[in-house]
This record gives sequence, structure tokens and C-alpha cells, in this order.
Amino acid sequence: MRRLPPVLIEDGCSRELLSLIRTILAACKEISFRVGQGALSGVLGSTLDENIQGETQKKLDVLSNQLLKDILLESGYVKAIASEEEDFTVAGNPDAEYIVAFDPLDGSSNTDINSLVGTIFSIMRAPKGSDAADPAIFMQPGHQQVAAGYVLYGPCTTLALTIGKGTRIFTLDKTHGSFMLTQEFAKIPEDTKEFAINASNQRHWQPAMQNYISDLLAGETGPRGKNFNMRWIAAMVGDVHRVLCRGGLFTYPADTKDPNKPFKLRLLYEANPMAMLVEQAGGMAHTGDERILDIDPQEIHQRVSVILGSKNEVETCLGYHK
Ligand code: F6P
Ligand code: MN
Repeated sequence: MRRLPPVLIEDGCSRELLSLIRTILAACKEISFRVGQGALSGVLGSTLDENIQGETQKKLDVLSNQLLKDILLESGYVKAIASEEEDFTVAGNPDAEYIVAFDPLDGSSNTDINSLVGTIFSIMRAPKGSDAADPAIFMQPGHQQVAAGYVLYGPCTTLALTIGKGTRIFTLDKTHGSFMLTQEFAKIPEDTKEFAINASNQRHWQPAMQNYISDLLAGETGPRGKNFNMRWIAAMVGDVHRVLCRGGLFTYPADTKDPNKPFKLRLLYEANPMAMLVEQAGGMAHTGDERILDIDPQEIHQRVSVILGSKNEVETCLGYHK
């Protein structure tokens, strides 16, 4: 079994990018340890604070954010960071080549029930001559990401990573702390019989999604002529991992539940990195209107609708949106 550094070097990953990825993973190993200790490390439960997006912060959100932020800024490998748990971007080394956007702990409502959570990250190049304190350096379409990944803290700790040469899966060997390559290239099957959506929002969806899901639910006697199964982990990182492992369609569509918040998932540190991982594994990632990786971001915490996974199934879903 091969360790991560030689695998990435063989793919032509620069020393600087490799060092940056290893820095992120060092923080993730610490998060993995803390998550694994659960109640023993006193990190379960909520803080009294909300983040800028009005979400109550869990203790593990704050801790994971602090670990990533400190290690990245101290490393000198990043020009700036953007995080779900930071109101604004934070400037780092003005001479560094890369910027990183991350969701320190995705699915944090799962922390207190010993269920799946993970860290999602997106790495881009800082534009030449740019100011580290200028948030505009993050306003790049996702197809410009140089690397994207997530670390899933589950029964084992797994890393899905792409530097634009396919999506690979590594497993953390906790006996010596190395991420080992356990799946050379993830390949999402083009067809599927599995979908993931928070069905409790059904009455708030738009007609296209209403019609699509109702045809899936109609099963073999309906227009699709086959039975579908449903899964919902309530952590995008867990749902996308299942899609990478065995295919499926995952969606968090637009809804009218809160008129000020038509979309749930954030573009820069949720949709974009996941879209890159999924496309690099042969899948598709779309909003219903456009390819996620082609969106020009307007703000750091911008939200989008997401439809991703098995290529043929995403295309079928998009057919309802035309
Ligand atoms: O980060 C947002 C998130 O936690 C995703 O990981 C997940 O898919 C979604 O929210 C679940 O939210 P809800 O339970 O409100 O549908
Ligand atoms: Mn999240």
C-alpha cells in the first residue's frame, strides 16, 4: 500500500502544493482524534455563538476551525483562508501561492449522535500581484481549483482527494498516522437506483424537483420503470462519499422554506470541491441551471442548489428542469 506523498509527486504535484495538502491533513488527523474521543474529550454540544450565517456553532465546529486556521496560517503555505466559521477571509503569507477555502466540520448536527462528519477543502491559486487581505481573490470559478478534497470521520477516517488527475481515496492508518492509498481511482457508475434528498422539504421544492422525485418514488410502475432506494446522512460529506463509492444522485435543491435563503449549500467550500471530486470520478455536478464549476462567485458564503452524482441520473434530473 502506498503513502500519499509519493502518489501525489508521481502525479506531478509541486512540492509547495504537496506541503499545503499535508498541512491541511495534519489538522484533519487532530480533528479525527478529537471526534473519535467524543464525550471523553469534552467537545460535544453547542457553543453559545452563531456564525455569520445564523447557524449555532458546535464546539467541534469551533475547535476544527481553530485547528485548521492556526496550522495553515503558521505554515506560510497560504496567502489567505476562507472558512464557513469565519465571517471574513483571513490574510496569511503575502508571498504564498495558494488560497484555501474550507468547511472545517461538515454535518455538525451529527456530532452529538456519533454519526458521520467531515472536513471539506478547496485549494486555488492566488491571482498574481493580489492583496492577501482582499476577499476578491476567492472569486474564481471552481474549474480553477488546483485541488479539492474531504476527510470523512467515520468508522475509519478516509480522504478523497483530487489534484485534477482523477479522484483517489486514502484511508488513515491510525497506527502510524499516514494516509494510505486504498482506491486508485474512484469511478462513479453512470446509472443508479439510489438518491439522497431531505424529503421533509418536499412542499417547498420547485415544480421540476417535485416532478422528478415523484417519478422516482413511483418506482417500477411509474415513468422510470424501476424502483429507487433513498439514503440521507444529513452530512453532505457522508452522502457524497457514498456517491463516490457506489454511485447515486445527491441533491440539495432550491426551496422556498425561507425566502431569504433559497439554497442551503455553500459554493466555495461545499459545492465546488465536491463538484471537482465528483467530475474527476466521472460524475456530474450541476445547479439545475449551470455546471457548478462554471459559476462566477459573488461572495464568500454564497449558496447554490446542488444536483450531483451518477452522470445519467443527473442528466435525467436536469431534463425536468428544461
Ligand atoms: O453543511 C450543511 C449541511 O450540514 C450538509 O452537510 C447537509 O447535507 C445539510 O446541511 C443537511 O441539512 P438539513 O438537515 O437542514 O437538510
Ligand atoms: Mn457543511
